[in-house]
Amino acid sequence: MTSPAPKPGILEIAAYVGGKSKAAPGVTPIKLSSNEGALGPSPKAMAAFTAAAPDLHRYPDGGAIALRAAIARRYGLEADRIVCGAGSDELIALLTKAYAGPGDEVLYSQHGFLMYPIAAKSVGATPIAVPEQNLTADIDGLLAAVTPNTRILFLANPNNPTGTLLPAEAVRRLHAGLPASVLLVLDAAYAEYVDRNDYDPGIGLVQAADNVVMLRTFSKIYALAALRLGWAYCPPAIADVLNRLRGPFNTGLAAQAAGVAAMEDQAFVDAVKAHNDIWRPWLAQELAAAGLSVVPSVANFLLVRFPGGAAAAAACYRFLEARGLIVREMGGYGLGDCLRITVGTEAECRAVAAGITAFCTEQSTTAAAGSAA
Ligand SMILES: Cc1ncc(COP(=O)(O)O)c(C=O)c1O
Repeated sequence: MTSPAPKPGILEIAAYVGGKSKAAPGVTPIKLSSNEGALGPSPKAMAAFTAAAPDLHRYPDGGAIALRAAIARRYGLEADRIVCGAGSDELIALLTKAYAGPGDEVLYSQHGFLMYPIAAKSVGATPIAVPEQNLTADIDGLLAAVTPNTRILFLANPNNPTGTLLPAEAVRRLHAGLPASVLLVLDAAYAEYVDRNDYDPGIGLVQAADNVVMLRTFSKIYALAALRLGWAYCPPAIADVLNRLRGPFNTGLAAQAAGVAAMEDQAFVDAVKAHNDIWRPWLAQELAAAGLSVVPSVANFLLVRFPGGAAAAAACYRFLEARGLIVREMGGYGLGDCLRITVGTEAECRAVAAGITAFCTEQSTTAAAGSAA
C-alpha cells in the first residue's frame, strides 16, 4: 500500500520559521525579531477586542462589512474592492491559488518576503527569484525574467527584510512593462511607516488597472499581529475571485472588532510612526558607530551587515540571545552575514544597541589581541 502523497511542490517547501520569542531559561526576552508594533496594541483596539467576548459563540460577519467600511473610510477606497484575510499571508496564498498552478512561474525579488516562494510551491508553481541591485528590487531584471509562463509578480514595497523601497515611478514602469495577463501584487505591509514623497503603496494603480492588487496588514503599524488580519485592495474581478475562494468566516469576530477600532485610532498610528521616526535613525546611528553596515530603511526594522561575515552575524545573534535580546537571523533569505532588528521601545532600542556595541567591541579587542600575539 502506498501512503497518501502531497501534491508536487509541497515537500519542496522549507516551512516558514517565524521570529523567535523565547530567551534562555530565566532571561526575560526582548523580542525584536518580527517587525511588530513597538508600542503594543492601541488601547481602543484592546477595548473592542474585550467587548467582543460575550459574542464569541456567534459566527463573525463573513463579509467583514464594518471592517471593510472602516478601511475604506480611512484610505478613501471603495469597500467592495476590499477583501479581508487572516493576515496578508492568507491573501498571498489565496491569490497564488487562484492565479498560478503547475507549470506556471511566480516572480519575486531576490530578498523578497519568504511567503511568496512558499505560496508558489504550495500550488505546484515555480518560484523565480530575480537578483537585486543594492538590496533593492531591479525593475529591468524583473521584466527580463517574465516568460509566457509567468502568472504573478510579488513585490514587497517597502521590502522585508531589506527595508528598501521602489519609488512610485519605478513601480509604474514595472507595471507598464508587464503583460496584462500577469498579476502584479504590491505588498505594502509597511506603507504607513514610509515618509517619502516619491512613494505610493499602489492604490492608484489598483484603481487604474485590472491586473494589480495591493496588500496591507494590521500586523505592523496597527500592532494586531496576534489577531491575523490583513486586506487586499483589488480590481472588482479579482475581489470576486478572492471572495469565492476564501473561507466563509476567514476573519474572526474579535479580530474584526479590534480592527475597526484600530483603523479609527489615527492618534495611535501617528504615535507609533513618531516613535519609529525617532528610534529607527537613532538605532541606525548606534549600529553604524559599532562598525556595522546599516541598510537605509524606510520601515520599522533595520538590516545590518557584519563585516566579519556570516560567522560574525551568527556569533552576535548568540551573544544577544544569551542576554535575552531576540533579533532575526537572515540565512533563510540568503543574507547570512546580516541580522534584522525591529525598532522596539526606547528601552529595547537602547538594550539592543548596547548589546551589539558590546559584541563588536569584544570582537575587535579579541582581534587586536590576536594580531598582537
Ligand atoms: C512584506 C510582508 N508581507 C506580508 C507579511 C505578513 O503579514 P501578516 O501578518 O498580515 O500575515 C509580512 C510580515 O512580516 C511582511 O513582512
